[in-house]
This record gives sequence, C-alpha cells and structure tokens, in this order.
Amino acid sequence: MDWGMKNRLDRLMPGGKCFFMPIDHGYFQGPTSGLEKPGKTIKSLLPYVDALFCTRGVLREAIDPTINKPIVLRVSGGTSMVGKDLANEIITTSIDEIIRLNASAVGLSVFIGSEYEKQTLQNLSKLVNACEGYGIPVMAVTAVGKEMEKREARYLALCCRIAAELGAKVVKTYWCEDFEKVVEGCPVPVIMAGGPKCKTEKEVFSFVHDGMQKGAVGINLGRNVWQNPNAVAVAKALRAIIHEKASVKRALEIFKKCA
Ligand code: 5RP
Repeated sequence: MDWGMKNRLDRLMPGGKCFFMPIDHGYFQGPTSGLEKPGKTIKSLLPYVDALFCTRGVLREAIDPTINKPIVLRVSGGTSMVGKDLANEIITTSIDEIIRLNASAVGLSVFIGSEYEKQTLQNLSKLVNACEGYGIPVMAVTAVGKEMEKREARYLALCCRIAAELGAKVVKTYWCEDFEKVVEGCPVPVIMAGGPKCKTEKEVFSFVHDGMQKGAVGINLGRNVWQNPNAVAVAKALRAIIHEKASVKRALEIFKKCA
C-alpha cells in the first residue's frame, strides 16, 4: 500500500481501531433529532472520537477547520426519506472537492439487492478509480434503506465482500447475530454502524463489545451517542471498549461515573 493511503488509514484508525462519529444523516433525512445544529452536537464529543463522517455542506458550514480531526466525507446522496427510493443514489462530490476539503477518506452507500444495485456498485467503482490515484481510502456503507430486517449475517457478509472486491478499503455495515461470519468473509476492515437508538446503554455497549470480539475494527455510531442525554458519558464508555478493550461491565461503570 502506498505511503499516503497507509498514512490516512493510520490517522483514521490509530492502533488499528476506530471510533467514527457520523453526522451525515441530514443528507437524506433533513434536520434529524439531536443533529439540528451539527457543530453544537459534536463539540463536547470531539475529544473522544477518531474522525467525523459528514457531507461537504455540513463540513463547510458547521465544522471549525482547526479541529484537527480526520474527516470521512460522505460523497453519495441525491435521495430523501420522502422520495421514491433511498437506493437511487449518485456520487455527489468531485475528486477536486474531496482533495480541496482535505478529506482523509470518503464514504458512499451501496444498496445490494435493490433495484439500484448496479448503479450504486458503479458509483463505488467510479469513486475507487478517482480516489485510488490520490491515496484516498473509500469506505463503502452497506445500506439497507428502510428495510431494516435485511440486517442478518448472510446478506451483510455478501454486501461487505462485494464492496471489498470492488476496491473499498474499509466497509461499514450493521452489527448482527453471528457477526464473525460477516468479518471472516471480508478481506478489508469492517466497521459497525449504529442504527436507530437502542432502549438502554447496556444494549449499545453489548453489541459493540460483541462485534469487536468477533473482529470488527471499530464503530461509526451516531444516534446512539448524540441522541442520548448523556452523550459524553456514552462516548467515553464506547471509546474504552474500542481502544482499551473494556468489558460491557467496565463500559457501564464509565458511563455511570460520567452521566
Ligand atoms: C447514514 C449513515 C450513518 O453514518 C450511519 O447510519 C451511522 O449512524 P447511526 O449510528 O445513527 O445509524 O451512513 O446513511
């Protein structure tokens, strides 16, 4: 792997592990609860995360360029919650913009099994072709749109493998039962997404801990952090699971101490 690519990946995943903070939800669902003012939402959380995942619009308007955190730029979109099909995405951001904004990586969704499977896989291939020459890693997001029941090992393993085969350097997917089957079939690092807010903190810490035990390299968790009234306490506890191998019990202790 070239020096630039390796350096970017190392900054994003210090020690091979990562806690990305996604604040990209507005690109298809508008002013999501807890994310109405993204700059305000992330201010107290920044010390605990390794990178931010956001669009160029939010980056330019809400994020201080001196924060010195790697940015994973969300570069797919073109659909909305109220539109016909969330899968009908395009690449939204040119390679010039990606470089101009000093992105450490880019993220794009693929909707495998959907009507737009080929289009979104083409998006991924084009993005890898554009970014590879500049040493910019592509993170593929295995999106399910509104079909949350798709989050099971056989389907997610298929999606992750296809994304890696097309050149994604990292794949973000959902945690599921038998998560080791997803990781084992994927030749690049796998990151867990969060999904809608869980009922309890224990539930969040448990699935993150399980996924890490089964080979994930980290998380890209938004709503379960910033929709929690004790967001900083959640972030500290998650950081301990990711970077200090904390148990669920220890994570709960950290959470309770800070909440
Ligand atoms: C939206 C995304 C988000 O980054 C991803 O869903 C993670 O956020 P959350 O933990 O809130 O689900 O890719 O398409």
